[in-house]
Parts: sequence; C-alpha cells; structure tokens
Amino acid sequence: MSTIAENSFKTSPLETREFRNALGAFSTGVTIVTALGPQGEKMGMTVNSFSSVSLDPALILWSIDRGASCFSEFIASSHYAVHILSAEQTALSNLFASRENDQFTGLVCDKGIADLPLLPDYSACFQCAAEHQYAGGDHVILVGRVLAFCDRGAAPLLYYRGGYASL
Ligand SMILES: Cc1cc2nc3c(=O)[nH]c(=O)nc-3n(C[C@H](O)[C@H](O)[C@H](O)COP(=O)(O)O)c2cc1C
Repeated sequence: MSTIAENSFKTSPLETREFRNALGAFSTGVTIVTALGPQGEKMGMTVNSFSSVSLDPALILWSIDRGASCFSEFIASSHYAVHILSAEQTALSNLFASRENDQFTGLVCDKGIADLPLLPDYSACFQCAAEHQYAGGDHVILVGRVLAFCDRGAAPLLYYRGGYASL
C-alpha cells in the first residue's frame, strides 16, 4: 500500500535548489537543438524544456537560459533543428551540455532547411523556423514553426530528477 506524504508547501521566498529539485519530479525527454551561428558555424545545446504547442499551425517550444554561452546566437537564429534523443545517446547529451569547443567533431551532419546542421542519429527531428520569442524570467521561450520532421521511432532517452533514465 502506498502512503501519501504529508502536505508541506514551501512558500515565497522559494529556495532555488529545492524549487529545482521539485521541478525535477517532472520527467522529460532530452533533445539537442542545433542552429547556425553568425559566421555559419554549427551550434548545438542539450535541452529538455522542449514541448509540443500546436498541431495546426505546427508549433513547438523550448527555452534557453539567458546565461548560456550561445544565448545571443540562438536568439538571433532564423531556424533551428530539435533532435529528440534515443535511449543510447546519453554521451551525446552530455557532450552538448558541456563547454567542449569541438562538439561536432566526428559527427557527419546532413544539411537541412536553410543549411541547418542535422545530427546523424536521433529518435525524431523537427526542423523549425523561429516564429515567436517570449520573456520567461531568466530564460527566453522560443516558439518554432515546424517546416519538416522525421520520426524514426527509437526508444527515448529520459531525464528525471537530474539523471538519465529509459522506459
Ligand atoms: C538534460 C539537460 C537538459 C538541459 N536543458 C536545457 C534547457 O532546456 N535550456 C537551457 O538553456 N539549457 C539546458 N541545459 C543546459 C545546456 O545544455 C548547457 O547550459 C548548454 O549546453 C550551454 O552550456 P554553457 O552555457 O556552459 O556553454 C540542459 C542540460 C542538460 C544536461
């Protein structure tokens, strides 16, 4: 028999670490968002704030930390590609969450719409045109219009309470 823990709500001012830990109770998939920088250089970052928004028109969203080193480059991008990772792609997720300079070394990328760098492996991929941006506190919420997608149907990589998991 399961027991339900006693209600003990934290109120303002919220302690950031506790708030973050509680948000981690929501399990997500893991994506890598890629785009081209101002000099045509490939950029990519690991993102789990991805969500579907609208079927018609086809819209998705993700949010980027204002403190991310590539923040201004992503905000200025006209297009981006969201790759939903498969269960075997933990190492790639860690690589694109790091400050490693040569994240794309050894990756044979295809060129997508507007020359978007498309990773070779993923479970599903959405090529998007940047449609809206909204202020979201220390993040900016980016809404993209899906121009093309590919669904390979692989089992997903999950993220839960600060660690990876699989179904
Ligand atoms: C599982 C996971 C999910 C992440 N999701 C996001 C996200 O949704 N938005 C974001 O701005 N950063 C997210 N990050 C952090 C970025 O991947 C990381 O900050 C980014 O690669 C840039 O790093 P830098 O600013 O240290 O160069 C996530 C990291 C991990 C490991």
